[in-house]
Amino acid sequence: LTDLLERRLIFVTGKGGVGKTSVASALALLASEMGKRTLLCEVEPKGDVAASFDEGPTAFRAREFLPGLNAMSMDTEASLREYLKLHLRVPVVGRIGPLARAFDFVATAAPGVKEILTVGKLCYEVRESHYDLVVVDAAPTGHIVGQLAAPEGINELVKVGMIRHQTGWMLDILSEPSLTGLCIVTTPEEMPVSEAIDLKGRIERETSVDLACVVVNRVLPELFGRGEQKVFDALTEEPNESALAKACGHPQEAVSDVIESARLAVTIRRSAVVHIERLREAMPARVPIVLLPYLFARGHGLRAIRQLSSALADELVS
Ligand SMILES: Nc1ncnc2c1ncn2[C@@H]1O[C@H](COP(=O)(O)OP(=O)(O)OP(=O)(O)O)[C@@H](O)[C@H]1O
Ligand SMILES: [Mg+2]
Repeated sequence: LTDLLERRLIFVTGKGGVGKTSVASALALLASEMGKRTLLCEVEPKGDVAASFDEGPTAFRAREFLPGLNAMSMDTEASLREYLKLHLRVPVVGRIGPLARAFDFVATAAPGVKEILTVGKLCYEVRESHYDLVVVDAAPTGHIVGQLAAPEGINELVKVGMIRHQTGWMLDILSEPSLTGLCIVTTPEEMPVSEAIDLKGRIERETSVDLACVVVNRVLPELFGRGEQKVFDALTEEPNESALAKACGHPQEAVSDVIESARLAVTIRRSAVVHIERLREAMPARVPIVLLPYLFARGHGLRAIRQLSSALADELVS
């Protein structure tokens, strides 16, 4: 499993709201604590990565959040500017009005341009070895395939010349499993698991990126074993329930409510187990499935990320 963090580029994706940003942040934190120079990149800059670390906003230029942990947010226009400066030696300084307009035009007209500038920047950081590991808080399930398949798409379109040369090296990085991996995040529920299974198929069919791991986030703890189940059943039987109410001096209705909530929590946990099983059956045996606990903390900043990171460490670093 340590294998995951030995890669150089990890894309973290999944259905909206399942915990992509949290998992990407926790992975990046873990890697940096293992001594890796790490870059965490938020592809859709919503400010959630910054919030994960109780930090101010991220920008295209990476900034160090913690020792060894740098964060940036993607900006395709800035990526183009950097590209022009580095590769074509075209300095784009000052106001870039005309370029920005041309860029908008091209990016809107030609599919794959924004995607290639995103993936290109990430691959560039890997190629130049500015970091040991680049963790990407990537696009959600609906868009990730387009992003990862962009270099192939452009390669298909342009058979010769400079552009071909530019996408070739990206493909080399993306399609090498020892360098690049995809991490699908899901929660143990019907829809997110179905989306994760569909995505696995699309990634295999439409991209050359290796599925490196599946993270099941927000897994409730095992609340009851067989022993506790017996106790629980006994409590809910009459006359025990009314005796319990009498003994603690509360109305029986209130006691029933408490027991019902416990029953609900157990039911949710059991349905989660069914969905995790479904996931296991659908994923190749070589792909590790990592479970992360539901955090009952109130705040969701660095404290929560540290908890997720140490849970990941338990699973990943054996
Ligand atoms: N293990 C967990 N336990 C409890 N809450 C969690 C857990 N993981 C994430 N959350 C919370 O769930 C919410 C969504 O998480 P997060 O922002 O990481 O998801 P996301 O997939 O990046 O969402 P989006 O699709 O909007 O980018 C956040 O409030 C986060 O703090
Ligand atoms: Mg997010």
